[in-house]
Amino acid sequence: MLPIIIILFIFFLSTTSNAAVQDFCVADLTVPAGPSGYSCKSPENITVDDFIFSGFRQPANTSNTIKTSVTPAFSSQFPGINGLGLSVARLETQQGGVVPLHSHPGSSEIVVVTEGSLIAGFISSANNVYYKNIEKGDTIVFPEGLLHFIVNAGNDTAKAFFIFSSSEPRTQLTSLSLFGNDLPANIVGKFSFLDVEDVIKYKKLLGGSSSE
Ligand SMILES: *[C@@H]1O[C@H](CO)[C@@H](O)[C@H](O)[C@H]1NC(C)=O
Ligand SMILES: *[C@@H]1O[C@H](CO)[C@@H](O)[C@H](O)[C@H]1NC(C)=O
Ligand SMILES: *[C@@H]1O[C@H](CO)[C@@H](O)[C@H](O)[C@H]1NC(C)=O
Repeated sequence: MLPIIIILFIFFLSTTSNAAVQDFCVADLTVPAGPSGYSCKSPENITVDDFIFSGFRQPANTSNTIKTSVTPAFSSQFPGINGLGLSVARLETQQGGVVPLHSHPGSSEIVVVTEGSLIAGFISSANNVYYKNIEKGDTIVFPEGLLHFIVNAGNDTAKAFFIFSSSEPRTQLTSLSLFGNDLPANIVGKFSFLDVEDVIKYKKLLGGSSSE
């Protein structure tokens, strides 16, 4: 009997060799995050509140140029989610609001519409576009790393939750990558096929330096 238990135990160890050795790794926000997330807070300093995020109680502020508010509950805001490979954010967008074209390197995203309607879509690496007007009760998935966008073309405020397969999703906004930095306008013009004057115009709009 004993050898069988030992064999099962060895089998269990070998099949779980990649499993976590801790139940969780609550983010220690006092130390900068590394490539795999925050380091773990000492167990004596962990409380139930590390596993609760109440930021969605606060009203969303959509008074901005994109008429949109995204409230993240990532490990920086929600320490208990650190290292779990998931996170959530709240979207609220007024009529005419947008979430500009962007991608999340290393994270897929699910959008669950809870109010109103949204045109939501993504562009595959083969440059195929998948988009649709979705409404309350609908869910769309944006596969990892692909460019995607949301437009509120409805008549009302729309609300949704985003669920990410990363506890600290990184975001790369296409318009900011093109125009919101100090990359010289003539180089941007060359690789984007845009006129340099237009590049300078968008750089001014998006806070990039407009040196040629
Ligand atoms: C726990 O938190 C206290 C107060 O912030 C801090 O002084 C202490 O070093 C922490 N303990 C550990 C083991 O990190
Ligand atoms: C909403 O955000 C705008 C722009 O940042 C700010 O001026 C305004 O005070 C905020 N409104 C509220 C209610 O917080
Ligand atoms: C928005 O309102 C207009 C005018 O009332 C109506 O024709 C249109 O169908 C509405 N659109 C949506 C998406 O509800």
